[in-house]
Amino acid sequence: MMSENVAVIGVGHSKFGTRKDVNIAELCWESMKPAFESANLEPKDIEFFVVSNAGMWSSEAAVPALMAEYADLAPKGSMRVEAACASGSAAVRVGYTAVKSGMADIVLVLGVEKMQESPNPNVIELIGRFGSYFWEFENFGLTFPAYYALHGTAYMMKYGATEEDYAKVAVKNHYYGAKNPYAQFQREIDVETVMKSPYVAWPFKLFDCSPITDGSACIILASEEKVKELGIDEKIWILGQGVGTGTANLSRREEFSSLASATYAAEQAYKMAGIDIDDPTKYLDGANVHDCFTAPEIIAYEDLRFCKRGEGYKLIREEQTYIGGKIPVNVDGGLKAKGHPIGATGVSQAVEAYKQLLQKAEPGRQADINKGRWLAHNVGGTGHYSYVTIYGLEKR
Ligand code: COA
Repeated sequence: MMSENVAVIGVGHSKFGTRKDVNIAELCWESMKPAFESANLEPKDIEFFVVSNAGMWSSEAAVPALMAEYADLAPKGSMRVEAACASGSAAVRVGYTAVKSGMADIVLVLGVEKMQESPNPNVIELIGRFGSYFWEFENFGLTFPAYYALHGTAYMMKYGATEEDYAKVAVKNHYYGAKNPYAQFQREIDVETVMKSPYVAWPFKLFDCSPITDGSACIILASEEKVKELGIDEKIWILGQGVGTGTANLSRREEFSSLASATYAAEQAYKMAGIDIDDPTKYLDGANVHDCFTAPEIIAYEDLRFCKRGEGYKLIREEQTYIGGKIPVNVDGGLKAKGHPIGATGVSQAVEAYKQLLQKAEPGRQADINKGRWLAHNVGGTGHYSYVTIYGLEKR
């Protein structure tokens, strides 16, 4: 039966970082086990499961089959999805549409990556293929720090933001990462740490970049009817989701100080969730945005309309995206400090929405929950794919 509303009824998260201590199945189970426990379900209850895994750098290509065997999910249906760094949100979308359409009542969504199975230069080269392969990557050697540096530079030139403004994003995200036991980097830094770190691609230095990460995250989705039948108290609802696609070649884009696909996805998500697009922060208790580098976090503030165009850097300058400010952003450490295991990131954002809205976040990083809504913004490539998802305590 079609389900108007879809709930997240269980979540789990592995420790992100260098995970040479586990194989990929064990890494998946590290987040699946707590997800089953929090939903009070067992593998036999799952009707369909989706695995987000870009996977070019790791050995197991058939992670759904691997986990069907390891976690006793066989012979249930499954699918592996990939949408570059937005793979996790693409998996959430597949799970969401499966439940909403009535194809399944309980769906498990898993995101996993074991990037450190390959040497960094290989990983960086493979990520580079998420842009435009033949023209920009193969001809000009653009890898992701350089791709996003073009956006970061354009934004600085247009609006007058500085490298120090970008550094402040990293300082905030490390501040909250230090309070998140699942984060790759659990230490605070200051602006000087960022400014003194070596350049990767101007204006980005080492501490402006997200790292290369192993990790997994898992959520369990259920239909409205199942939520009722199982008497689930602890849950959040998916209120809206937008998705956009950008051009492969950056040279085909008119504008570098925003991402058209993200702007489009945000408009769709706000409309679906009944949020006033002119003032979304009035409706949101906080957000996770795709800070694969520092500048894109600031660009995201604007694409999501947390402020006017050209004023995003002022939000971080004035500490308005800390808890207690206009809208807390990435209070789990973001990609910068929590880590960015590509396939797991979008699912990890859903886990964070659940923890924040149900006030289960660790001390020092729990936002005030008054409005009952949390936003997740997840970008693949440099806006090649964008997903914006809005989660809420009350269904639509
Ligand atoms: N922030 C802070 N410190 C970092 C870091 C980061 N992003 N990445 C690595 N480090 C630290 C390591 O912990 C290590 O410290 P140590 O010497 O004290 O142990 C040191 O820097 C060297 O680490 P290493 O992994 O060898 O770095 P690297 O130079 O090979 O790679 C980057 C660094 C930034 C180039 C790489 O992490 C990168 O390409 N990141 C972006 C990934 C990406 O594009 N993702 C997709 C985005 S859409």
